[in-house]
Amino acid sequence: MCGIVGYIGRRDAVPVLLEGLRSLEYRGYDSAGLAVIYRNKLQVTKTAGRVQDLRDRVSDRTKATIGIGHTRWATHGEPNDTNAHPHTDTEGRIAVVHNGIIENAEQLRDALSDRGVKLASDTDTEALAHMIAAEAVGDTPLEEAVRATLRHVEGTYGLVVLDTRYPDELVVARNGSPIVLGIGEAEMFVASDVAALVRYTKQVVYLDDAEVATVHATDYRVVPLDGSGRRAADASKVPTTVEAEAGDYELGPYEDFMLKEIHEQPEALRRALRGRLDARFATAKLGGINLDARELRAIRQVKFLGCGSAYYAGQMGAVLVEELARIPSDAEPASEFRYRNPVVDPDTLYVAVSQSGETLDTLMAVQELRRKGGQVIGAVNVVGSAIGRECGRGVFLHAGPEIAVASTKALTNMAASFAMLALLLGRVRDLSAASGQRIVAGLRALPGQIEQILAAEDAIAEIARRFADAEHMFFIGRVRGWPVAREGAQKLKEVSYVHAEAYQAAELKHGPLALINSSMPSLVVVPDDELLSKNISTIEQIRARGGPVIAVTSADLPAYLADAVIRVPSGEPELDPLLLNVPLQLLAYHVAAKLGRDIDKPRNLAKSVTVE
Ligand code: AGP
Repeated sequence: MCGIVGYIGRRDAVPVLLEGLRSLEYRGYDSAGLAVIYRNKLQVTKTAGRVQDLRDRVSDRTKATIGIGHTRWATHGEPNDTNAHPHTDTEGRIAVVHNGIIENAEQLRDALSDRGVKLASDTDTEALAHMIAAEAVGDTPLEEAVRATLRHVEGTYGLVVLDTRYPDELVVARNGSPIVLGIGEAEMFVASDVAALVRYTKQVVYLDDAEVATVHATDYRVVPLDGSGRRAADASKVPTTVEAEAGDYELGPYEDFMLKEIHEQPEALRRALRGRLDARFATAKLGGINLDARELRAIRQVKFLGCGSAYYAGQMGAVLVEELARIPSDAEPASEFRYRNPVVDPDTLYVAVSQSGETLDTLMAVQELRRKGGQVIGAVNVVGSAIGRECGRGVFLHAGPEIAVASTKALTNMAASFAMLALLLGRVRDLSAASGQRIVAGLRALPGQIEQILAAEDAIAEIARRFADAEHMFFIGRVRGWPVAREGAQKLKEVSYVHAEAYQAAELKHGPLALINSSMPSLVVVPDDELLSKNISTIEQIRARGGPVIAVTSADLPAYLADAVIRVPSGEPELDPLLLNVPLQLLAYHVAAKLGRDIDKPRNLAKSVTVE
């Protein structure tokens, strides 16, 4: 998605903006631009292409101390120099960068044209620049002009505005698209993602929806967009400290962030488990969910809501909750939930699952739940993100920044967090202390077991290369293996563009088996559990039709049974999905690498879908 940066202070703004844009490159974009105020005039530079192309175009002589920058992912108008942000008004007084989509852009543009304004671009954002300019006259404060403009705007936005009348001020607003302020020593940063500012400061303020901020080098003020009930001295907007380090956003020895993050899993998982396992009482401690034993016992159903991999992690969670706590549980894509007028049950615990914490469908599902009085907790990686704040309680994933579009370590930490939630719910019900101890020990063993899987990367890469020419692939699993198969298929298609479909093992014989032949490999997920013989018979059915099989298993499966066998350590069966998933990540990665894909920025995809 698009990226925003802003700077005001004593430094040379251009390199700060360029560096900020560079750190947002991972989000995917097609053009980039920046605007600074230099000698009381706006200087705008923009280009289709990469941040490096922008760097090549910016004049070295421009020494400004205030500016804004943007990486654009085209929504209105094709990716070209003119449609790139920032956009300005006709006189070149106001510059705007904007993330999100203005839904009534057409009407706003027509109204401007009727007033004789000539629009230079095809974008929704340019309308904002002209509208703000029309309000920002005389000594009208810029913040007031922005608020007056946004009253006419429908849609989502995170935006930053420059006005040559106020060369020491940035005005920032948010509605549905993230904006964070970075508080420095006599300097301030603005960004759509902490990745752009963490090298300069760890003190940040997250804007909420319908808030506007006026930012100077030494102070900032956040008020509601509608001007109502101005907060006393911004009491609710004290800076928080971000966990991330600048190094988290660097590749180090790795080729891609996806591979780096796959390898970070043991450490990320240790962080997620730290202080949360109680061996003495054989349970988990999840203080952030804010539910006492009586409230935990009153829960009659658990429902996980998320999108994409977060939804599949939720499915893993649902299996765990049913197994360990014996409470009915399921998962649903948040995107379906929010649109289908769901019946909200007060005795159901809803869990909103999101790495970024900014996925719009999940956020909307949470808001719908809250409107209907549902009890919802978050399972979110990014502290301070919209979903985390909207839920107000939950489990932080502590996976560290996930830069690659493909989710890996966050998903592992989601599943581990749900195992802890299931353990906690189980231990206030019928899960025995002995079974609880077994799960606690199993969770503690996971990071080391994942290290063992990662140590076998070369062998897995070799298998990936053997199958990389396949045009289609099946991912097969049942019960514990089913969400693993779905996530594996998702990962493969997402980064390698190989068509992959997941099927429940028993469903194969109801139709899809017809597609099996020698050019349709199947990856079968085989946990070491009571369904082992069923899974072996699935493998036999596939091979009987000439279909090649890769078995990923925690069982002691004989090598002759499949064309390739990838073994993971044998742990507690309920936790097997967390281990079985890791080779599937590596497989997807190495198929994509063999096919020469841009792994961190797959085509058609961008990090965190925050707009409709
Ligand atoms: C995962 O590999 C995908 N990039 C995608 O499905 C992702 O999980 C989904 O968009 C949800 O994102 P979130 O966890 O940030 O809400």
